[in-house]
Amino acid sequence: MGSEMVKVAVLGYGTVGSGVVEVLQTNRDDIARRAGNVIEVGYVLDLREFPGDPVETILVHDYEEILADPEVRVIVETMGGVNPAYDFTKRALQSGRHVCTSNKELVAQHGVELLEIARAKNVNYLIEASCGGGIPIIRALNTSLTADRIEAITGILNGTTNYILSKMAIEGLEFDEALSQAQANGYAERNPEADIEGHDACRKIAILSSLAYGSHIDYTEVCTEGITRVSTKDMLYASALNASIKLLAFSKREGDRVSIAVCPAMIRRENPLFMVEDVFNAVLVRGNMLGDAMFYGSGAGRLPTASAVAADVVDCAMHLEEHLPVHTGGEPLNIVPIEETTSRFFVRIEGEVSAHLSEITGLMGEVEVVAVPEIAGEFGFVTQPMKEAEFRKKLDALGNVHGRFIRVFF
Ligand code: HSE
Repeated sequence: MGSEMVKVAVLGYGTVGSGVVEVLQTNRDDIARRAGNVIEVGYVLDLREFPGDPVETILVHDYEEILADPEVRVIVETMGGVNPAYDFTKRALQSGRHVCTSNKELVAQHGVELLEIARAKNVNYLIEASCGGGIPIIRALNTSLTADRIEAITGILNGTTNYILSKMAIEGLEFDEALSQAQANGYAERNPEADIEGHDACRKIAILSSLAYGSHIDYTEVCTEGITRVSTKDMLYASALNASIKLLAFSKREGDRVSIAVCPAMIRRENPLFMVEDVFNAVLVRGNMLGDAMFYGSGAGRLPTASAVAADVVDCAMHLEEHLPVHTGGEPLNIVPIEETTSRFFVRIEGEVSAHLSEITGLMGEVEVVAVPEIAGEFGFVTQPMKEAEFRKKLDALGNVHGRFIRVFF
């Protein structure tokens, strides 16, 4: 083991920040062996007081104190939000400190600039915990799948919504109750709208896709739909179709463009993402040589996310004088408008099949009809694959439509 002590400062002592301190403390000896140096948390920055907590003695309220200490080599940013995390991160990198973060909001918004500063200053801005919680997907994209041209990524990237959908489908829980449980377990964002409206998954698929395709993808241009309109009835229809409903985040190269979106989607039992339940996340990566590889694990929560941040700290401790390259600098990829993408669609119709089928097939062509014994007075159908623009036009012409359509990926 080397003799150097690597001093770390943790910005934000919330769910993830306190988890990082715990991981570094609990696995201190193993981590020191792997890192080659002892890693010591020298400062915790937070506006709050934590009386009786072991970090009380290293707690500071002023960031300048940390920046003024030349012994601090690595800064962990687990504050969340863009401000002041952006300014703090920028100053840390500019002052020659490595930064490790779980802050997907900041990475999605300013990642390109922060990575560029890290490169120029010969330090690292490591972002493993920003996507997929404890799953080492960023490291895999940056350092393992480097011989492939990545063609597509499909993921369940938000633990909270997967937890809610699983509880609704398997235990029949109401949406609100499942969300409260996710919040109690520390999975949800402070404002869970980011989870349930799909914004969190949107940022994560934009980050993963930028790394996978080597070109920046602007998350604000990604078509994003959350799960608030998914009902337990939709789930019964999915089950009758031997499918389940997941909040999918996906991207696919299409020539020099990329189709990318986040939306609730029906997937069948044969799809490897079907079995991803509860707070688990999974990322299915398709490479032109590799074929498919799926990365699966704890997608949210205090210690899984902290484990990913702490692993980044170890990486920094092992490469104190070295910048580890990250490729996102290609020409920006244009996004294929969702209306131009092709899929199948599930629609619910009020009334009897016999009264509506000829109108439906007249408009939509051949469809797969599905009825659920527990749901009276309505039925559902699944279309053949078609362009979304064409489907929407046909749907507008159809009467008795109940609720919103759901994209079907089988
Ligand atoms: N709120 C996020 C989720 C936390 O539920 O996946 C992990 O990024």
